[in-house]
Amino acid sequence: GDRAIPVSELLERPSDALRDHAPRHPQIPLPKDIFRPRKNSAGIEFGHRAELDPITAAMQAAPAPQAPPEATPADANRAMETLAKAFPAWRDTPVEDRAAILETAADALEDDRAQLMSILAREAGKTIDDGIAEIREAADFLRYYAAEARRIMVTTPLPGPAGEENVHTLTGRGPFVAIAPWNFPLAIFLGQVAAALATGNTVAAKPAPQTPAIAKAAIDILHKAGVPKDALHLVPGGTETGAALTSHPDTAGVVFTGSTATAKAIQRALAASDGPIVPLIAETGGVNAMIADATALPEQVADDVTASAFRSAGQRCSACRILYVQEDVADRILTMITGAAATLRMGDPLDPATDIGPVIDQPALDRLKAHVAHWQDRLHWQADAPGGLFMPPTILDLRPDDRLTEEIFGPILHVKRYAAADLDKVIEEINATGYGLTFAIHSRIEAKIAKVLGRIEAGNLYVNRNQIGAIVGSQPFGGRGLSGTGPKAGGPLYLTRFVEERVTSTDT
Ligand code: NAD
Ligand code: ALA
Repeated sequence: GDRAIPVSELLERPSDALRDHAPRHPQIPLPKDIFRPRKNSAGIEFGHRAELDPITAAMQAAPAPQAPPEATPADANRAMETLAKAFPAWRDTPVEDRAAILETAADALEDDRAQLMSILAREAGKTIDDGIAEIREAADFLRYYAAEARRIMVTTPLPGPAGEENVHTLTGRGPFVAIAPWNFPLAIFLGQVAAALATGNTVAAKPAPQTPAIAKAAIDILHKAGVPKDALHLVPGGTETGAALTSHPDTAGVVFTGSTATAKAIQRALAASDGPIVPLIAETGGVNAMIADATALPEQVADDVTASAFRSAGQRCSACRILYVQEDVADRILTMITGAAATLRMGDPLDPATDIGPVIDQPALDRLKAHVAHWQDRLHWQADAPGGLFMPPTILDLRPDDRLTEEIFGPILHVKRYAAADLDKVIEEINATGYGLTFAIHSRIEAKIAKVLGRIEAGNLYVNRNQIGAIVGSQPFGGRGLSGTGPKAGGPLYLTRFVEERVTSTDT
């Protein structure tokens, strides 16, 4: 049988150390004292153990999360009416004031991190590592959109003939509906809300029904930082509540992150409304692929696949779902991935030694188990799971005619072997899914990388690295096709989707 090579025997790549200290977007001030814990190559020890201990202790001592009561569709309608009334005052608040409020909220997020990470762990199963990354990303979104709003919400004179003055301005659109998923219940939730607020919209914020408590904590922080209560409403609830918001006649825009099916349902609801034509910003899922050819560094592939497919229990829209590996190196690479994945520890998310927490709920676990049962004869490897809501990292070794056509949202990696001469067919197969969120290639042949990148239809492309953890301002994030309408969260064009443009021409 294959010898499992523990990840501790693999080379630690210098790029890991560099990445931890990589300069972030120059517009985003460095967080005050949020650190990324360094783990050794076995993924267990923390380099900053001493710094982490007080946070872990505070997290464990934090009170249990308090979920707010669910809003009914009638509450949703009332919220939209209040937001419509509050809109002109918030729209006309100077952009500098709106931006400063978001920056105050970013500071508060960092100050409250132990409490927030405790809620993330208890409500969403987020490990300490994931919790730190999520708070950092949420603070980045707040600061980035504050800076971007200052940059774009300006009055721009435009050219014209003598005697005519042309002026271009941007304003908010009106009450925006922000609908978030449970898998980044703080960062994505707050990112949507911050983008809409920064640009002068009032906001109805609907978190996923699985994660209302972290949403409540986030909205409380924004209100305390200075967003008027009437300009921002938390509307917790499920499908019906979301549908009431998106079909309300006062809705001026929708920003949604979640599944492709829900994005399409929202698109249909907006199209059916008798009101104005309402824009939808949708970020959805993917069947994200990685290609590793025979020139790739096997240690690096193993490390990056393990991180991309199994970290965060595979519950990232960016996660690697299918690895196409050149047949000549497939067995060796699979052995290394198995060895690396076997060292990941599943357990209590509040324990710093835990690498992978539970999946979100029983229906999610049932769906993942049913998928593995369906392809039982393709099962290549599966970790031991401690029971409960834990889904063990799993590798399915697919046959040439097998196709993965839907997003499987958990720690299940599909592998397909390909012959070097068939690379074009691999590209076609990847594009044929219709999704296009993340993609990664591992190869040392530059011409091949360029050719593949030129033909793959995906929004975020990664070369010789993992395909998760996009950083605000550095890797603006979003997909195409079934993966979304295209705008990139954390990018320089994102806020333009939340505004109305006006041009005033005056005969002088
Ligand atoms: P989901 O589509 O089930 O739910 C998302 C949100 O939509 C929830 O708040 C839900 O209550 C709401 N909703 C459901 N039906 C609705 C309707 N008819 N009208 C209005 N709102 C409605 O998704 P989920 O399970 O919460 O999240 C996981 C999904 O999110 C995955 O597909 C993942 O790939 C995707 N995701 C995408 C990104 C990205 O940036 N592209 C990021 C994270 C997650
Ligand atoms: N933006 C998140 C990532 O890149 C979803 O993993």
